[in-house]
Amino acid sequence: MSEHFITDTLNRADTDFEVSLRPIRFEDYIGQAKVKERLELFVQAAKGRGDVLDHVLLSGPPGLGKTTLAHILAQAMEVNIKVTSGPVIDKPGDLAGLLTNLERGDILFIDEIHRMQRAVEEYLYSAMEDFVIDIMIDQGPNARSVRLNLQPFTLIGATTRSGLLTAPLRSRFGLTNRLDYYGAEDLQTIILRSARILNVDISDDGAREIGARARGTPRIANSLLRWVRDFAQVRAGNKIDPEVADQALSMLDIDRDGLDEMDKRILETIIRKFNGGPVGLNSLAVSVGEEAGTLEEVYEPYLIQEGYMKRTPQGRVVTAHAFEKFGLKPRGQQEELL
Ligand code: ADE
Repeated sequence: MSEHFITDTLNRADTDFEVSLRPIRFEDYIGQAKVKERLELFVQAAKGRGDVLDHVLLSGPPGLGKTTLAHILAQAMEVNIKVTSGPVIDKPGDLAGLLTNLERGDILFIDEIHRMQRAVEEYLYSAMEDFVIDIMIDQGPNARSVRLNLQPFTLIGATTRSGLLTAPLRSRFGLTNRLDYYGAEDLQTIILRSARILNVDISDDGAREIGARARGTPRIANSLLRWVRDFAQVRAGNKIDPEVADQALSMLDIDRDGLDEMDKRILETIIRKFNGGPVGLNSLAVSVGEEAGTLEEVYEPYLIQEGYMKRTPQGRVVTAHAFEKFGLKPRGQQEELL
């Protein structure tokens, strides 16, 4: 049945560390101030009218808190949330099963909504707009369409690639928000909060050191915090200061700028194998041994935002900043070095 397509619900037993580090109320959610303010107002307005929340699209790189915000919205609206993901809904019937099980005001959260099949997506249009779905039953001469009425519900879509959403789907969201990478201060605050929950002894500047190397991403910050905690437990008397954090993160080959092995491999490949670029995404992916989609959605956004590389119509190119990072002279001056 449709339950098969639900990957999470709010009321399941919460035994998971990752989940328990997640804030469950707006008050505890750090950063993304503009998005937070808009969503809080959106909730207040809908609740004030006794209305169902309009559909919300959340976009941005992975690990920035799209799922967390969906759960916070459910908590704030005092409704149930069902969590699923675009690629697991592979037939219109699966979607119909999910939608017909929603109660008034419930939230359906579809992660990676850009990866939903087109045939499924088309059923969402009338569901979102008029809370009905027309499903075909039988085949051949007996084929007919049956209209199912749905309870008014809220769709929250999350995507790492808002550019891949079709115009008809995008236009059906009442509110669209893009999450951006977190600044060093917000990450430091998030780490201090997580450390309190995990009962970890960390100094303010220890948290700052981890935050500065977390690629602007709370999910990475929390996972680095756990690693540094383990390191401190075994090698540093259970106390995290900047020096301990530095030793622990260096052991993971995460450098002072927060770049990991793959980030560095990408930049060095463009510099050394492709003479600084331009190089096409697929050639680059083969060269570094990673999926093109992962490069595009996970690694490149951060490298671009930090000014190490650019996407151009001819392909990927590194900037002078990337040359300098590897102790090389920027292009045009580097012939003797490469
Ligand atoms: N944990 C993960 N993301 C968070 C956020 N934005 N605020 C507080 N804790 C978090």
